[in-house]
Amino acid sequence: MTRGVLVCIEGLDRTGKTTQTTSLLEKLDKDGVDATLIKFPERTTPIGRIINTYLTDTAFELSDQSAHLLFSANRWELAEKIRSLLEDGKTVVLDRYVYSGVAYSSAKGLPFDWCLSPDIGLPKPDIVLFMKFKQEENVTREGFGEERYEVAEFQQKVKTQFEKFQNEDNWRTIYVDNKSIEEVGEMIWTEYKVTASRRREALQYFSKL
Ligand code: TMP
Repeated sequence: MTRGVLVCIEGLDRTGKTTQTTSLLEKLDKDGVDATLIKFPERTTPIGRIINTYLTDTAFELSDQSAHLLFSANRWELAEKIRSLLEDGKTVVLDRYVYSGVAYSSAKGLPFDWCLSPDIGLPKPDIVLFMKFKQEENVTREGFGEERYEVAEFQQKVKTQFEKFQNEDNWRTIYVDNKSIEEVGEMIWTEYKVTASRRREALQYFSKL
């Protein structure tokens, strides 16, 4: 059986990732593709519950290293599920993943390579769709500022770290300025179709960059 496609949607806070992952799932369903959405952080697991407290309660202090390792551990909680869905021929859509993990923590000043280390060995996406907005746009969106990292200067640093992945083979930048939700959805769908139509190699895993 051909394995499923591992698709990842990434971007800064309030860039429309959740809207687009939902819309991608609807298109996959209409196309007869059996697909599962997994959002990180997955806040309902034991580690996810701690992450949720950390993100929503500024009085709950963790060192940057501890927070980073919890986000990574949260991905490892789901790693076997992702691998087995893919091996069963299912498509998996990820709303944030390793790239957010590395970008947010290295933006705080932790070394980039150190940030990637605990994620080495996790399934690697066939395609990463990075939603790129003008900085000013996401910070003016409704809800911005409600969680720990939603601070304009910090978002700019995260963007710089995300862009370090842009030469990776699986990376596609989706420019979303002045585009409607439907137009962005079409760009994502086109990129997905190209990837899905290619012959799939064995599943890849994260290794050193
Ligand atoms: P969310 O708004 O997509 O639920 O993500 C919550 C916040 O967690 C968001 O500001 C990005 C941040 N984050 C990390 O710092 N490290 C990670 O590994 C992940 C997945 C998210």
